Amino acid sequence: MLTANSLSFARFLLALPGMLLGRRRQRAALRRELAALLQVDEPRIRLYDSGRAAFAELLQLHGVGPGDEVIVPAFTCVVVPNQVPPSGATLRFVDIQRGSMGYDWQLLDLSIRRNTRVVVVPHNFGIACEVPTWLREKHRQVRFVDDAAHGFASRCAGQWLGSYHDGAFFSFEYSKNLTGGIGGFALLPAGAELPQTALPEVSCTDQWRLLATLKAHILSARWPLQGRIGMALVRRLGLIYRSGDHEVRDGAPHPAREMPLLSAVLLRAQLARLPATLAHKQQLVARYRQALAALPGITQWQAPADTHWVRYPFALPFHVLDKARLARELSAASGLNIGVWFDDVIHPAGSFRHGYQAGSAPDAEALAATVFNLPVNINLAADRALDLRLQRLQQALGRLLQRHEESA
Ligand SMILES: Cc1ncc(COP(=O)(O)O)c(C=O)c1O
Repeated sequence: MLTANSLSFARFLLALPGMLLGRRRQRAALRRELAALLQVDEPRIRLYDSGRAAFAELLQLHGVGPGDEVIVPAFTCVVVPNQVPPSGATLRFVDIQRGSMGYDWQLLDLSIRRNTRVVVVPHNFGIACEVPTWLREKHRQVRFVDDAAHGFASRCAGQWLGSYHDGAFFSFEYSKNLTGGIGGFALLPAGAELPQTALPEVSCTDQWRLLATLKAHILSARWPLQGRIGMALVRRLGLIYRSGDHEVRDGAPHPAREMPLLSAVLLRAQLARLPATLAHKQQLVARYRQALAALPGITQWQAPADTHWVRYPFALPFHVLDKARLARELSAASGLNIGVWFDDVIHPAGSFRHGYQAGSAPDAEALAATVFNLPVNINLAADRALDLRLQRLQQALGRLLQRHEESA
């Protein structure tokens, strides 16, 4: 999986001396810069070690407790629902729409009950949407919280994603729009307050792990072979930093920690170049759109022009049993890194189900079986070599579609 979407190896190295400034100063500067970008007051920005921790704080802010229900989209990462049970609230999955990858507002309306307190609004792949006013007015007891983990700096009708509902959580994990290794933040609703409590720091050992894992990820983005060797080495030394099995397999909640100094420093370096990064990514996406449009049968999604795509999704017209294998084959044929997000309604496949009933979210299940994605990464140049890779992808997909048609 190609990650570190907005971080080059040079920027990574150049940013590291900034750690000498210390974590308090770096975190304060990052909050200031995020607030300035999103045009919100600084106290609305709360940094954490992850998006999931930011989500838990928003549940607390909205007073979610026993007897309440939280609605989560049935096309999500397991670490999101993991945060609900500790609040005492119950959890319910609601299907998303195949055509938008967001909620069908009519279905959401019918799904909201008297005790529904929070609805998590998805913005998959960074496609920002807004809850219709009629729905918000009809359910005034409900707080709509944006899962903006895929859409940092996306906009919807000119508004920054996360700034127009009842709070939002963002992720800066390896694979997200900006890369802090780990990290995330909550954007609180206007006027809301959360007590300033000091959280535990990420341990020094974990920060070394982060650094080693991140370095291997960034190398992979630019030099795949060196990256693979680096990653194998990091794995061998037991230095891989990733979500623990207790979270993925057993559904355990994640205790909040402070954002690591390393993450804050790297994020500031990426923020400083955000306009150029967004422009580069738009060029990649324009080429992807054009190449995939030549293949009837491939689905692409409409999105606002100022979407900050985390990766660029496309769907096949038939269900794929082994998506990981097909992604490997398409990657080998094209030279592009093809991803499988999400490979199950609760991603990753094999993770804790939180009581999800198979068949209860048919659109999300269909998406999980058909959607692949392309990298939206500044280490990938929008040049002639990309066009050649896209041509090879077109040919590979063309052959696949033809085989499917013949066997139908
Ligand atoms: C849609 C979505 N929401 C939330 C998260 C959680 O973000 P974090 O890993 O920063 O906790 C992720 C991925 O990790 C995600 O894909």
